Amino acid sequence: MCRCEKIARLRRRAVLVVVTLALAVLGACSTPLPDPQSAGAQIYQVRCSGCHAPYAPASLTAAMWEMQVERMQTVMVRAAVNPLTEQERFLVLTYLKAHATDAASASAPAASAAPVVSP
Ligand code: HEC
Repeated sequence: MCRCEKIARLRRRAVLVVVTLALAVLGACSTPLPDPQSAGAQIYQVRCSGCHAPYAPASLTAAMWEMQVERMQTVMVRAAVNPLTEQERFLVLTYLKAHATDAASASAPAASAAPVVSP
């Protein structure tokens, strides 16, 4: 095989690696949490993304969040991870419910089905 052919192949492989890495990074950040500066969002990020990526708050209803957070407490205990304290649980749940599918002011694009008022 000629030298330049080899170089071209290596270059193609390098491009593939870069593209794959970029997609991985983009994928990990593709669902920014609403209201990221709030205490609830930060606790949610720290405590609920150790085992899986944090689920979008708007992906569940308030009642489902209540159930899932309760369920995760047992999952965490079973995995020898400290469960949420009373205060952490309160802040995380308040945060998740405020942005849940059925929240009045759900900030997820899918939930904002309000008609666009044109002037
Ligand atoms: C110790 C690891 C761990 C931590 C920490 C953790 N989870 Fe999970 N979570 C899991 C596992 C494992 C599953 C999948 C198995 C299951 O659903 O029981 C899961 C599944 C879920 C699901 C999807 C359930 C479904 O039916 O699809 C939600 C929602 C969820 N977790 C929310 C949370 C929230 C909110 C927190 C923070 C309070 C959290 N998780 C923290 C391990 C964890």
